[in-house]
Amino acid sequence: MTAVAVPPTIIDCDPGVDDAHALFAAIGARHLSGLEAVTVVAGNVALRHTRRNALRIREVAGLDAAALPVYAGCPGPMIGALTDAADVHGADGLDGAGLPEPQGEVEPVHAVTFLIDRLRRAAAEGRRVRLVTLGPLTNLATALIMAPDIADGLLEVRAMIGSAGRGNITPAAEFNAYVDPEALERVATTLDAAGADGVPFYVYGLTLTHTVTADRAEIARYAALDSRAGRAVAGMLGAYLDRHRVAPLPGMGGAPADEAPLHDPCVIADLLAPGAVRAVAGRLRVVLYGPARGQTLASFDAGDEVGAGSRVIWMVEGDAGRLRAALFSAVTGLGNG
Ligand code: RIB
Ligand code: CA
Repeated sequence: MTAVAVPPTIIDCDPGVDDAHALFAAIGARHLSGLEAVTVVAGNVALRHTRRNALRIREVAGLDAAALPVYAGCPGPMIGALTDAADVHGADGLDGAGLPEPQGEVEPVHAVTFLIDRLRRAAAEGRRVRLVTLGPLTNLATALIMAPDIADGLLEVRAMIGSAGRGNITPAAEFNAYVDPEALERVATTLDAAGADGVPFYVYGLTLTHTVTADRAEIARYAALDSRAGRAVAGMLGAYLDRHRVAPLPGMGGAPADEAPLHDPCVIADLLAPGAVRAVAGRLRVVLYGPARGQTLASFDAGDEVGAGSRVIWMVEGDAGRLRAALFSAVTGLGNG
């Protein structure tokens, strides 16, 4: 069986406790994730926190700037003020993690400039980059506005964003889409315009991520790991459950009571366990105005709806056991200390 080459991968994120879990897994299984750089954006918490958190996570995972550069990006959405999720992730964004202050620094180049330069190099070298996004799409959208040609350097975009059903920050909208819906609209329409030989846009929405969760037993497994990363993941997931888990009403979506949804880790787990998530081609439209602002309207080619909107690949259901196992194994790879 021929080994599948792992593409160079960049994670754009807003750490955030589930971003942190995803980053630990991507670093622990770097031979499978291909992670080479991290860009951060304002989202769950302000940019001053997300950039500090990315550095804290990197250092607890045993890496420095040479091994994994971190670039700070946009401090808020393209339009309007930032809506954060500090009530979910804690004031600094990593409630329960217990991570020390970072020693290192972000790179002196803005994340958008880095993305433009890196994707242009990828196109020139013929080795396109996989971009994983775990927060609002402000950095990518800004880069595409400034330099539409960078799409030639993208192998694919895999985003935790949106929902084919109910939202979470509002009944209609998922948080990453809600914070910057114009950015999502820009990314989706630009990638779609690239046409059939364009850039596949894989969308991991709440419909999937609410079904991949960690319960108290899973948290205990992380707590038993002899590593600061394992203990940090356990602390964050435990704090999440202690703070605000309520039983969703029947049929109203949401993770089961006393189980933490693994939103961002789902994307990384899919990279580590290929085939664990079912993909369905379809289309995505973003609501920009009115009380449903940020809602993503999904249609599926397999269905009989008349597809409207940008072509995407909806990641619709997953083998939660396989995805959880892949994440746990990856974090175990971070070793002791
Ligand atoms: O809706 C879940 C998403 O919003 C996750 O990326 C979480 O980190 C928050 O950013
Ligand atoms: Ca996130």
